[in-house]
Parts: sequence; C-alpha cells; structure tokens
Amino acid sequence: MTTLTAVEKKKLDNPPLDIHYLGDRVLRQPAKRIAKVDDKLRQTIKEMLQTMYSADGIGLAAPQVGIHKQLIVIDIALDQPDEPPLILINPKIINSSSNLCNSEEGCLSIPGVYLEVTRPDEIEISYKNELGKPCKLKATGLLSRAIQHEMDHLNGVMFVDRVNNNIALNEELKKRGFAASAVKPVKK
Ligand code: CO
Repeated sequence: MTTLTAVEKKKLDNPPLDIHYLGDRVLRQPAKRIAKVDDKLRQTIKEMLQTMYSADGIGLAAPQVGIHKQLIVIDIALDQPDEPPLILINPKIINSSSNLCNSEEGCLSIPGVYLEVTRPDEIEISYKNELGKPCKLKATGLLSRAIQHEMDHLNGVMFVDRVNNNIALNEELKKRGFAASAVKPVKK
C-alpha cells in the first residue's frame, strides 16, 4: 500500500471532477493507454478517488470524468477507512470463467438506474498499479463485477448496453429522465 494516492474516504462539498452522464458522447470515446505513471497521473488518481467517494460510488473510470485514459479506481470497502482502494492502469482481462452470473448494477453516470447484467463470474486481469508496477489479480463476486463494469467504460461501453430485459431497461431510463436512444446495445 502506498500513501502516494491515499485520500480520506469522505464526501466533499465540491468534488474536484465533474461526472458525465448517459447521453454525453464523452462516455462513448475509447480510452488511451497510459505510457507513463508519474506524479501528474497520481494527482488525477487522487481527484478521481475524492470524486468517487463524494458520490458514494464503488468504482469510477477516467472517461466518466472526461479523461480519455485507461485508468480506473475501485473501492468495495467504503466503510473500512484503512482498506486501500484498487487502482488499475491499462487493465487487461487475461482470463475469464465460462461461468456466468446475474447481478444488479448501477453507475455514477446513470444515477438511480439499477438493472441486472450477466457477466463472467471470475476474471483474472493484468494491470499496472499507481507506482507503475505490473500486477496480476484474480477476482470474483462484487470485485470481479466492479472491474468488468469499469473496464467497459474504457471501451465506451455502459452497463445499460448489456441489459437483456428491454422492458425493465426502458422503464427505468424513462423514470430517471434518460433517453432510451442513448443505449448502444452490445452485440452478442
Ligand atoms: Co459505471
């Protein structure tokens, strides 16, 4: 654990970054690989963490705050102040289980919308951490799901693009004021 990107897990009145919402084309642009992990990038990581904690989220991908870089912050232990967040730079899925599972997802870019998505249960990823060190990680359950959800953002994919239940999808989007035309279904 490094203190270089440590921030307090609390809500700020004025979070440093603005989150973009479904319908904004910024979210559809693919993110670029990061060539250098330096202090400037670590400052961005800190600001993303502060913005995520302020919005009560467990994950945030750089494109959601208008930064087109392959960078993700995740924290599934919001109630544990000493548990460090997971920082993923240039993440790649190197293995995923054929075992699929359904679970409800939400997204800071689609507030109020929660719907079931089918994804592989288990994944293994390679990535660089906030020090630029190459790492590998196996994940299941909520962590696996959060990683897959955030990695989709790096490809301009939103979780609603993967929802199978169209009736529920259109109903939820309408209720929360989002246009159904903002969904770009993923080809299966
Ligand atoms: Co999201």
